Amino acid sequence: MGLAAREDFSEREFPMSDANFVQIKNIAYSLTGINLSNHKKNMVYGRLTRRLRRLSMNDFNQYCELISQEKCEEHVEFVNAITTNLTSFFRESHHFEYLANSVLPELYVKNKTTKKIRIWSAGCSTGEEPYSIAMVVKSLAMFNAWDVKILATDLDSSVVDRAKIGVYPTERAEAIEARYRQYLSVNSRENVVRVKDPVRARITFKNLNLLSSWPMKGPFDIIFCRNVVIYFDAETQRKLFDRYADILRSDGHLFIGHSESLHNITKRFTSLGRTIYQRVS
Ligand SMILES: C[S@@+](CC[C@H](N)C(=O)[O-])C[C@H]1O[C@@H](n2cnc3c(N)ncnc32)[C@H](O)[C@@H]1O
Repeated sequence: MGLAAREDFSEREFPMSDANFVQIKNIAYSLTGINLSNHKKNMVYGRLTRRLRRLSMNDFNQYCELISQEKCEEHVEFVNAITTNLTSFFRESHHFEYLANSVLPELYVKNKTTKKIRIWSAGCSTGEEPYSIAMVVKSLAMFNAWDVKILATDLDSSVVDRAKIGVYPTERAEAIEARYRQYLSVNSRENVVRVKDPVRARITFKNLNLLSSWPMKGPFDIIFCRNVVIYFDAETQRKLFDRYADILRSDGHLFIGHSESLHNITKRFTSLGRTIYQRVS
């Protein structure tokens, strides 16, 4: 048990009992699949106290009572508060190299009749991942006349709203290679960059819970689902990865996060190394 787990939360500005935390954990799990471990208690406390203040509540009993209701508007804010949205442009850069040098050139041959490619960034957070994918596509002139579309989804409605805007502090773009930086316009006065329209045009952003039913039919050629399932238990991961296999083309590619693995989870993909997988069944 970590220090944070032993800390007494009953003496804080907004008292939170162990029973409150268990209730919050259970509701978070059923709404999102996210397993909040005990060492997340401090983080959860910090994020949810903002909601208590906003709702003029005095303690977590009141808040737990509210979110225990089967259907309530607060679920959106609750979910937005507990998700972890850390991301960056070209995060795990070897994925984008593999996309540019192997997967997309292969699809250029395989899909030459339809001239169509479908990519899904599942758990896209504030948009850096799908914009990085779109910049790679844009950099390959052979796809200029192709119908290449990227669906970018996240459970957290606030990050989806920010992703749609496509404007970032300049320092977030500093590590981007020069060949991709041309797809950003720089506003030095406001110290921000904006993703240019031809790159944005390939992406559709939507609010979607991966555990719910999916409105799209597929098939997708490629799915990026990176650093999302890390807080899911094995059974939730297995169900999700099997659904990814179902919605991918028969030899489609799946990219997952650096600390994630399909080993002992599903046999429907084969590993191509470095957290890149290809569907086999
Ligand atoms: C750490 S971010 C990863 C962002 C990006 N994929 C990357 O690797 O940089 C994880 C994202 O997964 C989203 N997420 C968590 N549970 C989800 C669920 N059940 N359905 C959809 N998105 C979820 C979170 O809202 C968060 O934005």
